[in-house]
Amino acid sequence: MHGNTPIGIFDSGYGGLTVFRSIAALLPEYDYIYLGDNARAPYGNRSFETVHQYTLECVEWLFSQGCPLVILACNTASAKALRTIQQKDLPRLAPDNRVLGVIRPTAEKIGNYTQSKSIGVLGTKGTVTSGSYDIEIHHFFPDVRVNQLACPMWVPLIENGESNTAGADYFVQKNLNELLAIAPDIDTILLACTHYPLLMSSIQKFLPGNIQVIPQGPIVADSLHDYLLRHPEMRERISVGGTRHFFTTDDTTDFDNHASAFFGSDVRSEQVKL
Ligand code: DGL
Repeated sequence: MHGNTPIGIFDSGYGGLTVFRSIAALLPEYDYIYLGDNARAPYGNRSFETVHQYTLECVEWLFSQGCPLVILACNTASAKALRTIQQKDLPRLAPDNRVLGVIRPTAEKIGNYTQSKSIGVLGTKGTVTSGSYDIEIHHFFPDVRVNQLACPMWVPLIENGESNTAGADYFVQKNLNELLAIAPDIDTILLACTHYPLLMSSIQKFLPGNIQVIPQGPIVADSLHDYLLRHPEMRERISVGGTRHFFTTDDTTDFDNHASAFFGSDVRSEQVKL
């Protein structure tokens, strides 16, 4: 049996584990449940309606496991489903529970990294076309230029265990060249997809040394830490046994084989049917 009232962490697949890794390192005392909807990943090219429906089903399952707080550790779900869940679904389903995303906490910080006031934002097609990063970053940093590019091949390559191959290098180089062609003045690239840190070595191979690459995990972990300090009523509802439980909607052997590369240590998952 898992902890009574853990923090729930959700992603369409493996990517959220890169965020969970940073959260668990910063806040090890809490109980956690991770849910990857691998059976229906990737979400990146799906419609608003579909991403909302899938994400809501996962959030409801995490609530049914006792989670008072759920983190959507997925930019696509944060861009396409979070607002509807917060405004329409939560008041009806569980008004005292909370669901937080990864876009706002990242947008709040990313402008602090750039000197040239021009950043690249790489994400899925869903995240980029939603315009969420453009809107949120300009809210906090009106003078920073936001240059977005969708990298639709990256998540399928990563989900299929092809991160360290010539095929991955080809698509990474192609997309980075496209980004640099539209925005030669960037000094910072935000990895606005929780899968992308798995391509970090390939990304760094094809970038000039003056461009820094920022993954979201540490930023989101810091932001959750702040949130829990500001919300003692939520902090007190989360159980503190230090447990981590992993669930996937697809095959557990596949999940366990891939997940450790994202999470940084061995993972043993259970299957859930939604
Ligand atoms: N990891 C998800 C994100 O951060 C995307 C994966 C997907 O396309 O399902 O956007």
